[in-house]
Amino acid sequence: MMKRTGAGTLRVEHVGDRVKLSGWVARRRDLGGILFLDLRDRSGIAQVVVRPDEQPELVGAFEPVRQEWVVEVEGEVARRTAPNAEMPTGAVELIADRGAILSRAEPLPFAIDGKAADASEETRLRYRYLDLRQSALQKNIALRHNVTHAVRAYLHEQGFYDIETPILTKSTPEGARDYLVPSRVQRGKFYALPQSPQLFKQILQVAGFEKYVQIARCFRDEDLRADRQPEFTQIDLEMSFVEEEDVYALVEGLFARIFPPVGIPVGIPFPRLPYAQAMLRYGSDKPDLRFGLEIADVTDLVAESGFRGFREAIANGGVVRGFAVPNAGGASRKQVEGWAEVARRYGAAGVLTLKREGGEPRFQVKDALSVAELSLLTERLGLEPEGLALIAAGPESTTAAALGALRLELARAYDLIPADRHAFVWITEFPLFEWGAEDERWYAIHHPFTAPDPRDVDGLESEAGKARARAYDVVLDGTELGGGSIRIHDSALQQRVFKLLGIGAEEARARFGFLLEALSFGAPPHGGIAIGLDRLIMLMAGAPSIRDVIAFPKTTSASDLMTDAPSTVDARQLGELGVKVE
Ligand code: AMO
Repeated sequence: MMKRTGAGTLRVEHVGDRVKLSGWVARRRDLGGILFLDLRDRSGIAQVVVRPDEQPELVGAFEPVRQEWVVEVEGEVARRTAPNAEMPTGAVELIADRGAILSRAEPLPFAIDGKAADASEETRLRYRYLDLRQSALQKNIALRHNVTHAVRAYLHEQGFYDIETPILTKSTPEGARDYLVPSRVQRGKFYALPQSPQLFKQILQVAGFEKYVQIARCFRDEDLRADRQPEFTQIDLEMSFVEEEDVYALVEGLFARIFPPVGIPVGIPFPRLPYAQAMLRYGSDKPDLRFGLEIADVTDLVAESGFRGFREAIANGGVVRGFAVPNAGGASRKQVEGWAEVARRYGAAGVLTLKREGGEPRFQVKDALSVAELSLLTERLGLEPEGLALIAAGPESTTAAALGALRLELARAYDLIPADRHAFVWITEFPLFEWGAEDERWYAIHHPFTAPDPRDVDGLESEAGKARARAYDVVLDGTELGGGSIRIHDSALQQRVFKLLGIGAEEARARFGFLLEALSFGAPPHGGIAIGLDRLIMLMAGAPSIRDVIAFPKTTSASDLMTDAPSTVDARQLGELGVKVE
């Protein structure tokens, strides 16, 4: 039997060769009895011609063939009289003299590589195998394979062991709800699916493996967005005897290997930005540094201001901040109102404008600010003659978040994000804890296993809010790609942190006894990071959602529309598990 050739590989140098192609019929045309088929396989598309004068029987056999039927054909590669410059195979065609229908297809719910508007997201997910035939998704899945392969190769070269950790396990807190699996043999007991392999990878350091990697599936029952899925994949790493710089260098080396092939240049080392600076200057812990529009604090300039809105916010412990957008001075009232609405969505009271009319600064609230204040604000915010400054006042966290969101909004509105620029950055010096006002307790910002900055260990309990974490995130173009930390490797310090987080000795033993015990048997200093593989591929592919880089993703309500999961199970199964549904 003849070997297959990839349809997408045919070129002029194959003219005269005899080849066999098998694949899907992307298009079928009948021009005066001559049958033209666009035959598609994984490698691409080639034109196949069946001539009634030379192959009357084959034309007859292929007469019923319709879109997406699977066929095989054999024949000679010929030069096309009218080449198609848009197709890589457009200079040639296959003149078929043999062929067979391998499989038929029902009329499709949507056209493959048709207009996006042809099918709803729901229909596409229900018929995911058809959706996946589309060239954009074929490309994304191939890219995902290639990147995963390169990641494994790089880490293997760096001396990492790829080690699998359990899926049926015990809850690891990463801040989301657990997916639970009931045990049949131990009724009333449950496994949790891992939110990450965090504790296992740390314990693998105690076990002496020194460098661990896993392309690990993680499960989190949390609210879903375009960059979140209930199950997702991490490039999960851990190393012994390392500090922050070692982790940075490793990840920078990895990115320098995998990004340039997709046209994203990587300059290393990446800049580092302490968390406090990121929040102040960009209003976000995942700042997009492809453009300016830096936020400035102007609290000191308006503390004594005649404008009550500023004075009161400051008197209540808040801040006044703003940023200027060049050439935005002509914004309409409706636009400004829209931006104020964005600010309110982030918990700010609104946003006020400052612009220059005939060179003179003019604040949105007439006569509220003195001439001296106006000129100081203009200077600090860097407001140019044709520009517009947006100013917000209120508690620090909501003001930062609102201005951070507006910074992005205005950068998009004024087309200030250069499409060909990319900006990697490390965010460092995160706080260790944050105060939960609702239940009046401290929460770990990263996770409870993150080491405090050695300078903050003594005062951990007395000044918990000020403690810095040895944690870091790597951010690309405003998306958090990964996060990690140097860990606590001392059992006593780990117990102090648990206590601070309101996890009593008893509970700590029940939930994390195995970790505390492991740390007490010779734990090396260690640290690591996890990079979201789905997000990584999404950015590399320029895809709008991580659903576009996952073969079988879930909807925003966490269902798989193709298999109809989750679904009910029969009573007998529940009975065996000792589970009752209310
Ligand atoms: P973290 O929770 O920051 O850290 O997760 C690491 C990275 O995983 C990706 N990610 C997600 N991707 C898709 N859908 C989700 N629901 C989702 N949640 C997270 C993000 C994120 O940056 N154990 C620690 C890592 C460590 O300390 O080494 C952890 O899981 O890209």
